[in-house]
Amino acid sequence: MKILLTGSHGYIGSVCGRVLSEAGHDVVGLDTLLYRDCDLPSTQTRSLSTLDVDVRDVTPAELAGFDAIVHLAALSNDPIGDFSPELTREINADATISLARAARDAGVRRFVFSSSCSMYGASSESAVDEGAPLKPLTAYAESKVRSEEALAELAGPDFAPVSMRNATAYGVSTRLRVDLVLNNLVGWAHATGKVKIMSDGSPWRPLIHIEDISRAALAAAEAPEDLIRGEAFNVGRDDENYQVRQLGDIVQETVSGSEIEYAGSGDPDPRSYRVDFGKLRRAFPDLELTWTARAGAQELVDAYRAADLTLEQFESDRYTRLKRLRLLLDSGRVDHTLRWKQNAA
Ligand SMILES: NC(=O)c1ccc[n+]([C@@H]2O[C@H](COP(=O)([O-])OP(=O)(O)OC[C@H]3O[C@@H](n4cnc5c(N)ncnc54)[C@H](O)[C@@H]3O)[C@@H](O)[C@H]2O)c1
Repeated sequence: MKILLTGSHGYIGSVCGRVLSEAGHDVVGLDTLLYRDCDLPSTQTRSLSTLDVDVRDVTPAELAGFDAIVHLAALSNDPIGDFSPELTREINADATISLARAARDAGVRRFVFSSSCSMYGASSESAVDEGAPLKPLTAYAESKVRSEEALAELAGPDFAPVSMRNATAYGVSTRLRVDLVLNNLVGWAHATGKVKIMSDGSPWRPLIHIEDISRAALAAAEAPEDLIRGEAFNVGRDDENYQVRQLGDIVQETVSGSEIEYAGSGDPDPRSYRVDFGKLRRAFPDLELTWTARAGAQELVDAYRAADLTLEQFESDRYTRLKRLRLLLDSGRVDHTLRWKQNAA
């Protein structure tokens, strides 16, 4: 298939491009390269031919000839959503909907949307499946709910959109993010010897490695259309739901000599959810999600050591999405809509 991968230059996209290409697909990226100076040293990524087009501006003509779109481009977390609910709505929801419409009009048959389990909000009593009520607590989660609703409405005989509700990602990517819980805990432990837990450690989070997210996106892109049309799938493994304090223990055991430190206010984080992944397992019995948080913690500490990651680098704007966007805005390299200014491009 000829696949357009939006957000191809991001944390997941850098790995997903490789996974889709290695499966034999002809992959073209689309990204405005917001994090173009943010590579983790000592890692490599497969280079893709990439359209430097803003996802808000894509036209049906640019989509002609593609069989599928894997849509990752977004402002990718809650802190950015708190910083700018408007841009989060515009880039994550409005642009997803206009991109899907353009895809349908251009005859692209499949649309694999990178959604998020964070739309379950506060749901830690028991594991929630796809039928559970959605309780988005943030602008980011709200943008995913709106997108999913619109995509389900666009589903039809010639257009098969699917929403992949990914668990919280971890793992090594050339476009590393340390604003994700496991990447962050391992980073602190590596750089300071402290496993720094900012909540009381009680919140539940399902975790998934970025390679496994990419394999699931590949499976959805290749699936019979009737299996995915208008559907939503939780993407993760039942045995990879963790409380943050359990992740702290894994990190402490992985990074030799480190100690756990509770550094937050002690208040529990209201965002806490445990997730049931049975629907994905039943629909995709051959899909193997192989990573565990423990293996991921080891992979991360090895990469941080290889890159010689210091505390200064770890805390810089390089690997934290909101810090980077603030820098681009404050330095005037992008305008208030996050479009590159001419002279910076
Ligand atoms: N990382 C996670 O834990 C996680 C979990 C669930 C869902 N997701 C979703 O997966 C997707 C990818 O996440 P990520 O962690 O790789 O994020 P990321 O921030 O690393 O990557 C996002 C990419 O999108 C690009 N982008 C942003 N705005 C754009 C625009 N207007 N036009 C074109 N490109 C634009 C950025 O340049 C960047 O390369 C997002 O939709 C995110 O919401 C991520």
